[in-house]
Amino acid sequence: MRTLIKHILASTEPGDSITVKGWVRTRRDSKGFSFLELNDGSCLANLQVVVDAGTPGSEHITRLVTGASAVVEGKLVPSPAQGQKWELRASRVELIGTADAAYPLQKKGHTPEFLRTIAHLRPRSNLFGAIFRLRSRLAFAVHQFFQERDFVYVHTPIITGSDCEGAGEMFRVTSLKGNIDEKPEADFFGKKTYLTVSGQLEGEAFACALSNIYTFGPTFRAENSNTARHAAEFWMIEPEMAFCDLQGDMDLGEAFIKAMAQHALEHCGEDLALFAKFVDKGVHERLKFVVERPFVRVPYTEAIGILKQSGRQFEFPVEYGLNLQSEHERFLTEEYAKSPATVFNYPREIKPFYMRLNEDGKTVTAMDILVPGIGEVIGGAQREERLDQLLDNMKYQKLNPDDYAWYADLRRYGTVPHAGFGLGFERLLMFLTGVSNIRDVIPFARTPGNAEF
Ligand code: 4AD
Ligand code: MG
Repeated sequence: MRTLIKHILASTEPGDSITVKGWVRTRRDSKGFSFLELNDGSCLANLQVVVDAGTPGSEHITRLVTGASAVVEGKLVPSPAQGQKWELRASRVELIGTADAAYPLQKKGHTPEFLRTIAHLRPRSNLFGAIFRLRSRLAFAVHQFFQERDFVYVHTPIITGSDCEGAGEMFRVTSLKGNIDEKPEADFFGKKTYLTVSGQLEGEAFACALSNIYTFGPTFRAENSNTARHAAEFWMIEPEMAFCDLQGDMDLGEAFIKAMAQHALEHCGEDLALFAKFVDKGVHERLKFVVERPFVRVPYTEAIGILKQSGRQFEFPVEYGLNLQSEHERFLTEEYAKSPATVFNYPREIKPFYMRLNEDGKTVTAMDILVPGIGEVIGGAQREERLDQLLDNMKYQKLNPDDYAWYADLRRYGTVPHAGFGLGFERLLMFLTGVSNIRDVIPFARTPGNAEF
């Protein structure tokens, strides 16, 4: 039976007749035998294979080059070499597919920029193998976190008619040809539809039935921002809780980020060690810090004061009623709080219609969680549960209430205070690994002008 290298390297005893399948990282030939470094992606480490001259299949040894695939049968024996416990003494090798000299991953030490141009091959590199193993493990941790707390996983639609965030940054979905704006009623769904920017509104419908829910799926934004933190297609996790206020929402966001950091420390040790070596020396300390310390909480109005008094020259203006820019967010978390920071109660005019108006009539129950190196990873709010106020919010934001009739119904029938947030999965991964560009934590990045692969 085939065994993954991860399990072989964790063996406690030598063994006969093990079969491994993988890709050759390197081959070194000596007199009478060859060493193959075999990797199957199950872990960072390679398995060293010793192939004696004359071993069945070794007549093809020269075609077992870097990048080639092979099956090896053999005996697991203690390795005399330093830094590895086991090696495989081959009793049979089989070349599956050779690689030619054009194979781009011949040598180590390629830049992430170069590796982005070969996104189909980069998972075979040490760094990207580690990133995508961690991504998989953290996706599992997301489900574990919510399932253990009895949140119900809801699959919200990808094609939608509503712009949840009201930012108008949506990709149109149409089957019309020619002028697609002329007769939207003739379109596939009988109206204009888009790729979703958020599953929140549908998530609220389910929270107002099942109490605590979460979504975890792809999300699309036609924002033309070519930054290291924006992708046109990304994965978002959106919990929504009935009978919950802003306080409970901030608590959940904080607990969630802490749990993800803890999970990475506990289960992704080998890959984290690689990030510490090549990406971000302080990754372990950072994650431990996040797990142990409470996040700092600051009302928006206070945050504006802090920024004004900072003596910093910011590129963008700091004024009550303006959005916090990434440079402001990073100052608040990196320099002021020196820890993740939650900013809450934002001015009504810069936040979407669904947020709850505070008693002051000026601010809404919004909260953003900011982390060092990145800025916003979570955006959330307590929702407006009062029908009249919700309709007023729509008017204020110049939205047509007819477009949100079903959403308003949730306030007509058994309305409850409820709250939730959205967390960008890629931004979380950047924070956990120290990888500084969003294009490097998503398998095949979609950014303005780029949808190859
Ligand atoms: O702050 P946002 O826009 O909030 C919402 O969409 C709410 N409907 C969420 C909710 O309350 N259920 O987005 C949430 C998060 C951001 O904090 C950020 O982490 C991520 O989604 N995000 C992006 N990630 C990558 N690329 C982009 N273009 C992103 N836009 C938002
Ligand atoms: Mg936001």
